[in-house]
Amino acid sequence: MKIYVYNVRPDEIAFIKDWQANHPDVELAMTEDFLTVDTVQKAEGSTGISALQTIPYPRELFKKMAAMQITFLALRNVGVDNLDRQAASDYGIKISNVPAYSPYAIAEFSVTQVLNLLRRTKYIAQQQLAGDFHWSPDFMGRELRKQTVGVIGTGRIGRHAMVIYQAFGATLMAYDPMIEAGEHDGVTYVSNPEAIFKTADIITLHVPAVKSNYHLINAETLKLMKPTAIIVNTARGALIDLDALQTALANHEIAGAALDAFENETAAMQQYNTTEKLTDPQLIALGKLPNVLLSPHMAFHTDVAVTNMVNGSLNSLLEFGRQNRAEFQVE
Ligand code: NAD
Ligand code: COI
Repeated sequence: MKIYVYNVRPDEIAFIKDWQANHPDVELAMTEDFLTVDTVQKAEGSTGISALQTIPYPRELFKKMAAMQITFLALRNVGVDNLDRQAASDYGIKISNVPAYSPYAIAEFSVTQVLNLLRRTKYIAQQQLAGDFHWSPDFMGRELRKQTVGVIGTGRIGRHAMVIYQAFGATLMAYDPMIEAGEHDGVTYVSNPEAIFKTADIITLHVPAVKSNYHLINAETLKLMKPTAIIVNTARGALIDLDALQTALANHEIAGAALDAFENETAAMQQYNTTEKLTDPQLIALGKLPNVLLSPHMAFHTDVAVTNMVNGSLNSLLEFGRQNRAEFQVE
């Protein structure tokens, strides 16, 4: 069996090599290149491809894979929202993801960002960078145990975020269409997200980017929020109308935001070896605000997560090769 691994970052190489050492019968080649219509040729002769969901995978890519008789694509990540799944199905390409490489990593990062906003650590850092080092009334923060946290989406990541917030003593409310409204394990589940928008001091998003969630946070829903509200998005950029968020922040209608995912995310954000500067004027403006934290889609990035992402994807390719299906097949 021959496997071709795309988008390989330096922090993944040791894990890929370890996996390869345990599977000497598998021929494995890798590249730092992203998987695109132009680079797919590199995988000629392979049975399956391992890649990350960083840029959209269009119909043309699946057409080329089928023409090259490469029938398996094993993602090393959770999200499957920017793949042309219909095209994959039309061309008989089977796709898998790694659904639970470490929900803890993303949950912990989202809570970290909330604590940073509550305790205004960016104000402190900005003051120091400007050469100042003294107490300031601007540093007065809020205590997490006193906040009402609204979790939208209580799947793998949202559920773990709730465990952390409960340990801090926060009041928890949640919305997930799969869970009936009512009290569940100390969490008040509500029947619609509006109840969270109106009540919560912290609104944390952990839902997939499906059509029904497009711009879940928009001018209308932002108007419902309290001036104390902090929004944290480690899920997908399409969940937030960034123009509306920027206006709400400028008008002090909400207290802050932490964003790890962006609607018009560039491939460069996921490239370690680029010197490309941020050019999006909106993100530059938001990034300068002391009550806004931006990160380049890296909530997942821990040692445990990366090991599991690599092993999960390569093991799926083995399963596909052996039995033409995989446990975590999504298409
Ligand atoms: P999951 O499938 O385990 O859970 C998603 C939950 O959202 C499900 O329980 C589902 O019922 C619920 N849901 C769907 N639509 C909803 C809606 N409109 N309102 C409320 N709930 C809704 O997924 P997960 O593993 O917890 O991942 C959550 C998100 O995090 C995904 O978008 C994923 O792509 C993203 N993610 C981001 C990173 C990162 O590094 N930033 C890493 C991994 C995953
Ligand atoms: C995911 O696993 O879905 C992520 O968002 C992580 C990223 C490396 C694509």
